[in-house]
Amino acid sequence: MKIGIIGCGNISRTYFNNAKRFGGLELVACTDIVMEAAEAKAKEYGVKAMKVDELLADESIGMVINLTVPQAHTEVNLKALNAGKHVYCEKPFTLNLAEASKALDLAKRRKLRIGSAPDTFLGAGYQTCRSLIEEGKIGRPIAGTVVMLCRGPEKWHPNAPMFYQKGAGPMFDIGPYYMTALVSLLGPAKSVSGYASKAFEERTGGAGAFAGKKFKVETPTHYSGTVEFGCGALVNVAISFDIHRGAHNPVEIYGTEGSLICPDPNTFGGPVKLYQPWMKDWTECNLTHRYAENSRMLGAADMVAAQKSGRPHRCSGELARHVLELMLAFEEASKTGKKYTMKTSCQIPKPMDASLPEGTLD
Ligand SMILES: NC(=O)c1ccc[n+]([C@@H]2O[C@H](COP(=O)([O-])OP(=O)(O)OC[C@H]3O[C@@H](n4cnc5c(N)ncnc54)[C@H](O)[C@@H]3O)[C@@H](O)[C@H]2O)c1
Repeated sequence: MKIGIIGCGNISRTYFNNAKRFGGLELVACTDIVMEAAEAKAKEYGVKAMKVDELLADESIGMVINLTVPQAHTEVNLKALNAGKHVYCEKPFTLNLAEASKALDLAKRRKLRIGSAPDTFLGAGYQTCRSLIEEGKIGRPIAGTVVMLCRGPEKWHPNAPMFYQKGAGPMFDIGPYYMTALVSLLGPAKSVSGYASKAFEERTGGAGAFAGKKFKVETPTHYSGTVEFGCGALVNVAISFDIHRGAHNPVEIYGTEGSLICPDPNTFGGPVKLYQPWMKDWTECNLTHRYAENSRMLGAADMVAAQKSGRPHRCSGELARHVLELMLAFEEASKTGKKYTMKTSCQIPKPMDASLPEGTLD
């Protein structure tokens, strides 16, 4: 499968580097609305820089990886599908449910694949957690916690206001990792009760062109609530850009027979810790799967392999749409003061096969 990257910013470097690790695909071209960005990456990685429309018109390119900014995801996804390309998009998949469904429907009509990051849940850490749960090590999952507390990225990021626009904030920037990881372990969600708030109306940039400059916060920056999963588990969630420091584990899952500390789902590795009632303390578990290092591109490579063998790809558009609805549900429940009942669902992605060699997905 010949692949073209659209969007040659920060994260594209990781995709260019990691593409070499997977069989069955070849990165051949890249583009960006800023052509100098595309030309620089093309030169560095030995691919062809093309204008966006030129790349989409190239019939030898079968798939597009969309690494543009979130506000451009849908426009680029639809354009690429209309040009007959399979599409893999960075997170967040889209900014509203209607856009997500539009892309999924178009892909279905055109018999094309559509998938989305995050793919971190396919890494060694979360695949190990999933094996432990499926082996019954914690019994039936009944509850859990998700905690991602920080003060936000404006002190160090050169384009800080981007993180505080509508459709950004901690839920859309970091939430996809946590929500996708939860769905991969517990299955689809059933309802959400929650709150969304904002502790600061203005923030001050600390780096680049925005250093010392004040800008308006246009999104909630603190989310708190409970997700009820179809399996019955209730997970308490706190996701925030308003908190100087917290000291909780990122994800904990509690079962009838034990408890699991899961790793930061914005990484591919561990640690994974298990507690069973006969143990003195938490026990760190060996990781049972591959891809413990930053392997962004794994989801796209899985989509290529799945397309070839005819199986469903793991980072599916349906999973991304369900995660999107889950993230939107906190603000909706907060606005209405009512529990939000989920309308979408998805298949739990098939576990990764630990016996396959590095770079092979089937
Ligand atoms: N930077 C990270 O560490 C990171 C990690 C994981 C995921 N992501 C996600 O990846 C995506 C890109 O992030 P980034 O940090 O690389 O952003 P970035 O701002 O560094 O790069 C985005 C690039 O897309 C280009 N672009 C914007 N609109 C376009 C359009 N319509 N057509 C073509 N090109 C367009 C921009 O010119 C820019 O070069 C985001 O969705 C982000 O959430 C980023």
